[in-house]
Amino acid sequence: MPGQNKMPDQAFSRPLVLGIETSCDETAAAIVSADKQILAHRVLSQIDDHAEFGGVVPEIAARQHISHLDHLLKGLMEDAGLGFKDIDAIAATTGPGLVGGLMVGVMTAKAVAKASGKPFVAVNHLEGHALTARLVADIEFPFLLLLVSGGHCQILSVSGVGDYERLGSTIDDAAGEAFDKTAKLLGLPYPGGPAVEAAARAGNAARFSLPKPMVGKPGCDFSFSGLKTAVRRLAEDCVAKRGMLYEDDRADICAAFQQTVGACLVDRLRNAIALFRTRAGAGKFPLVVAGGVAANAYLRAEIEALAAKEGMLFHAPPLSLCTDNGAMIAWAGLERFVADPGIDDADVSPRPRWPLDEKATPLVGHGKKGAKA
Ligand code: KG4
Ligand code: ZN
Repeated sequence: MPGQNKMPDQAFSRPLVLGIETSCDETAAAIVSADKQILAHRVLSQIDDHAEFGGVVPEIAARQHISHLDHLLKGLMEDAGLGFKDIDAIAATTGPGLVGGLMVGVMTAKAVAKASGKPFVAVNHLEGHALTARLVADIEFPFLLLLVSGGHCQILSVSGVGDYERLGSTIDDAAGEAFDKTAKLLGLPYPGGPAVEAAARAGNAARFSLPKPMVGKPGCDFSFSGLKTAVRRLAEDCVAKRGMLYEDDRADICAAFQQTVGACLVDRLRNAIALFRTRAGAGKFPLVVAGGVAANAYLRAEIEALAAKEGMLFHAPPLSLCTDNGAMIAWAGLERFVADPGIDDADVSPRPRWPLDEKATPLVGHGKKGAKA
């Protein structure tokens, strides 16, 4: 993760914000400063606790957050050489996400805020992903954002802190969910994204042809559930022909799947860029990719090529800031605190569903974090 731990006598500019992330299967926290330093960060993944179930089990996740958050925060403050009184605001993911985990993070953050007399800032997890680009690069508003994670797949026009317009969204599965389900079908470990990407490296994408849902249609919405069914059929065909699923079958299916997801993302983004330009104008605007799936090197390269072709400035955060982490929540909290220094969300409760664009019509579909807001 970029940024270095700083002792209090070293220079940083205020505000300093502590951010806590517990919306899914990572217990994470970080402290960031206004001059974009990550003074300390800790993340504890629960992957091993959920792996045997092939997905996140909400009760296990909540219990693990309860067990680990206190120690994680203690260690974080020691790493930074700071006490809670040195922090200007305490932020926590308040939604969307698994309600048990959200409650652990929000209650802890509110307790720390109350005890140290600092404001609590309720952060939308999606806004955390959205604003991460501004923590690591000089990205100005407005920008176009592709948010692709395990629970979400949407394209947003970002005009400012708290100012989002959803241009498109998945109507069923999220992209990361499609990776996770494909991995499960092929006997690859959880989480599926990195496993599918690794297997695809040795694969021949041209061996199989998969349907490309929504491609060529107007609009910017996605659909990935049909792809999963097509992958299942391919795997069954391979087994029927050769008696079992061989390494090369698995690699070729993964490569075809990844290429197809890439084609879908690029096609939808092309329409979104045109739509974004009707609002923002013809300039060279940033195209930001965020969320866990943005860690995929093949997809990043495909989207970067599209950005170059369309005259947009491609940006994707470093891999450690793509998947869930505390710095993204601390930074989004800091941006909100700077925009409104009198902020205090002490009365705000966890929201399992919390769309970034509250005006957009909700779409059907349920992922590991509930409906894809
Ligand atoms: O943002 P994130 O950590 O959590 C959510 O907010 O959902 O994203 C996790 C998702 C998982 O579905 C995981 O399989 C996917 O991101 N992912 C990837 C890769 N690394 C993580 N998908 C494709 N390729 C990757 N390298
Ligand atoms: Zn996330």
